[in-house]
Amino acid sequence: MAAALTIVKYPQSILQKKAEKVAEITAEIKELIPQMIDSMYEHAGIGLAAPQINISKQIIIVETSHRPRENKGKPLALLNPTIVEYRGQKITEEEGCLSLPGIFVQVTRPESIVLTCLDPQGKTLRIQASGFLARIFQHEIDHLNGKLTIHRINPIKRFRMRGQLKKIKKNS
Ligand code: NI
Repeated sequence: MAAALTIVKYPQSILQKKAEKVAEITAEIKELIPQMIDSMYEHAGIGLAAPQINISKQIIIVETSHRPRENKGKPLALLNPTIVEYRGQKITEEEGCLSLPGIFVQVTRPESIVLTCLDPQGKTLRIQASGFLARIFQHEIDHLNGKLTIHRINPIKRFRMRGQLKKIKKNS
């Protein structure tokens, strides 16, 4: 297993800007994907976006098994993921983020999505997801658009968290 990459924390600017599209799947990107997967497990995450390891590119890793700790885990790497359709009702659930340690907020998101992306071999995929998995995809795709969970909540709630956010800032 490769050494875990350091996770970039809020309020680093790379987390708050749009990541670049992957124009070509280079050898560098092919090497990066297993490193991102290892790092996600190392940090006990269920998803990871490239800006979180200081690379502003549209690459995400998502854990797709229901019990990653019991099973071996089924990580999926997606390049240039774009949500093309939202379905179902909106659901509110608590979300955490490796870039916002200790911060758990209620985020409202559509229940189901359809997305298109490239796989690491450059093949176009169309993925339909619901429930928890749809939530992880949306959270990670948000990272590629410079959006964090704290940007998805009411500004008053965010203001109330300023003490906690300052603490992360001090440690990041
Ligand atoms: Ni996150």
